[in-house]
Amino acid sequence: MIACGLDFGTSNSAIGVVRDTTATLAPVEAGDTLLPSAVFFDDEVKGQVLFGNAAVAAYVGQTEGRLMRALKSILGSSLIEEETKIGGRKVPLTHVIEIFVRHLKHKAEEFAGQEITSVVHGRPVRFVDDDDTADARAQDQLEAIARRAGFRDVRFVYEPIAAAHHYEQTVEHEELVLIADIGGGTSDFSLIRVGPQHRGRADRSKDVLATAGVHLGGTDFDTALNLAAVMPLLGLGTELVEKNLPMPSAPYHELAAWPTINFAYTYKNERMLAELVSLACEPEKVGRLLTVVQQRLGHRLAFAVEDAKIALSDSERSTVPLSFLQPGLTVTATHAAFDRAIRTGMGKLHSAAKDCIAAAGLGPTAIDTIFLTGGSSRVPAVRTAIARAAPSARVAGGSDLLSVALGLTQMAGSVDGA
Ligand SMILES: Nc1ncnc2c1ncn2[C@@H]1O[C@H](COP(=O)(O)OP(=O)(O)OP(=O)(O)O)[C@@H](O)[C@H]1O
Ligand SMILES: [Mg+2]
Repeated sequence: MIACGLDFGTSNSAIGVVRDTTATLAPVEAGDTLLPSAVFFDDEVKGQVLFGNAAVAAYVGQTEGRLMRALKSILGSSLIEEETKIGGRKVPLTHVIEIFVRHLKHKAEEFAGQEITSVVHGRPVRFVDDDDTADARAQDQLEAIARRAGFRDVRFVYEPIAAAHHYEQTVEHEELVLIADIGGGTSDFSLIRVGPQHRGRADRSKDVLATAGVHLGGTDFDTALNLAAVMPLLGLGTELVEKNLPMPSAPYHELAAWPTINFAYTYKNERMLAELVSLACEPEKVGRLLTVVQQRLGHRLAFAVEDAKIALSDSERSTVPLSFLQPGLTVTATHAAFDRAIRTGMGKLHSAAKDCIAAAGLGPTAIDTIFLTGGSSRVPAVRTAIARAAPSARVAGGSDLLSVALGLTQMAGSVDGA
């Protein structure tokens, strides 16, 4: 019997098993160990479900069907009750997560050559901010999904504790480290004492001095950039002819947030937007919004914005190509505009890091190292916001996307006594 470590991420997922006491991640994406958390239900081939890059490629290639991303964000939220239409059938979103988890489990079993029923499952420190009941419900929902997918023994571990476990394998001296895992949906912190002499100890509760988390991550940065830089071209902020009323902003927010994009695709919405085009001061712009809804281009737009955001980590400006919407249409996103759009979020990140240190009863100078992991820790403003919480600390970490999955798998190995 072997156990696995499962990192079900908002944007990317990975699963690993322990073999010969070594944690190894399973190939889940054409030999790669990181699978974009994307599912595509293909309406052209009955019953076909695609995952990861294949799911995204089918959608971008305009195969008829439905793409689902950022599914983890619905846990603990009111969206958990929602259903999506797949091949004419209404399917609960929890079932879509189950299909994805089952797929990962299957990949790990293929790799291990045996059935796996025991999992060390990652979870963010906070699924839901400021509501402990909803937060506990989110873990219960995820546990029920894992059990339905065939796991019988399910243990949850905070994602930043798993990342700490992985980081500890590399340290040569005892140190106090603030782990900051800035992902697609959540930002998670743990303050933990690590060192060679602590490695392999079963009970680490005394070494974990504090944890903190906030439901904020790269998908929120996508939304902020989309609303600031792109949606104005689709009429956000423009007015209606009559009484200078503003264009309603709700459709823009729905389309700019990954988990709600599919909800915008209703005939009711199409009718309402067609009417708004006729009432708009700038009908050409609002017409583009109608095109996005009619032609189901919301994810195309979100991918273009995400690519531009990623480019802004290394350059002052980047172009968002929108020719799928209108030939030749582009918009330039600047670093400065992006920083402005995520400024409130940066305040929250800084506070979460500071609160984590304060919760341990320590001051900022007590921290030796900040270990950054997760894709969104590559955003320069994120690094600055976190570094400000412990200015004298060394900043480490390659912002890799696999520390959590590797840590969970290593922990699965020790749980199992391997
Ligand atoms: N170079 C980059 N600059 C900015 N953002 C980036 C970069 N590379 C990846 N990202 C962002 O990182 C996020 C994905 O990171 P990661 O894989 O750590 O998230 P996750 O584990 O799926 O999410 P979570 O742990 O919050 O559930 C995405 O929002 C992606 O756009
Ligand atoms: Mg993650």
